[in-house]
Amino acid sequence: MNILEAKKYGKARLCRSPSPELDTAVILQHVTGFDRTQLLLKRDCQMSEEQEKAFAVAVEKRKTGLPVAYITGQKEFFGFDFFVNPAVLIPKPDTEILVEQALNALGLFYGRMENADGSLKKIPEICDMCCGSGCVGISVLKALAENDGISVENLPKMTFADISEAALEVCQKNARRLLDFDENIPSRLRFIRSNLFENLPDYSFDFILTNPPYVPHSESLELLKDGRSEPLLALDGDVTAEGEFSGTEDGLFLIRRLVPQCFERLAPGGLLIMETGEYNAEETARLFEEAGFKDVGLKKDLNGMLRNVTGTKPYRPEGTKSGC
Ligand SMILES: C[S@@+](CC[C@H](N)C(=O)[O-])C[C@H]1O[C@@H](n2cnc3c(N)ncnc32)[C@H](O)[C@@H]1O
Repeated sequence: MNILEAKKYGKARLCRSPSPELDTAVILQHVTGFDRTQLLLKRDCQMSEEQEKAFAVAVEKRKTGLPVAYITGQKEFFGFDFFVNPAVLIPKPDTEILVEQALNALGLFYGRMENADGSLKKIPEICDMCCGSGCVGISVLKALAENDGISVENLPKMTFADISEAALEVCQKNARRLLDFDENIPSRLRFIRSNLFENLPDYSFDFILTNPPYVPHSESLELLKDGRSEPLLALDGDVTAEGEFSGTEDGLFLIRRLVPQCFERLAPGGLLIMETGEYNAEETARLFEEAGFKDVGLKKDLNGMLRNVTGTKPYRPEGTKSGC
């Protein structure tokens, strides 16, 4: 089979996919090692027997609904290539906004904390809660180092936390692959398996970044019917830590526990940035206020839907008076 024939074959087999041509092209790139341009230029190139077999197997997997990212084991996020498998949610473009918001806030933090000699009064402590593949925290560190020129000794210390051991393994693998630019990086990273902050009792953070599960129960079950194989615990905001239905139907069972725990774990002046669903962002903002956060704000996603909620922990609890 040559490349052109393979394209036709893939397109026909994947005619029920919402994107048969793109799926076929990405699978072909993965199997042949060609980039998009080479795929166009080498239409007559004959695939090896091994490539043909791998291609056919991948197409059949895609036909079951398995996302292309799980087939190739890769997903681009914030310009970086993350390893993914069905233990983790596939990073979504909307979550890049969370990274951008974090980088903007960190820019202000560095501005406030810098000494005249370039050293910092305080190294930022960040928690990527519900880290999954680690796409949020790793992108923040990589962008700070590579795009903003922050030296390794001034980079934030990052704690990655997730309830899933298998997800944490993926996160560690991505950290090893993507944060390999300095031998001192690993000492700035922690990977902790934890039900929310349960196993992080002694830490206090300047920033908590989180994309928790927030999809309502019935919608999560509906979404999973297409064979996407993403973990229920990564999507469903209404299940308990054991994966059992909690009885709520608004996607907020976990967030109701998470918001006050974040407030407790933040240092005074610390910032929480949380991704939510367009259907529960406003209620989440209310939960932020109820927990004591101030300057609570909502940010829309790329489609103009309410998506991220931010809030700052005040230096003094609301209503308390300073001394004299
Ligand atoms: C929506 S995914 C987000 C993954 C990644 N941060 C991203 O943005 O692509 C939510 C993650 O929360 C984790 N999770 C679910 N319940 C949790 C809990 N009670 N404590 C900690 N992590 C939890 C899941 O294992 C999953 O990896």
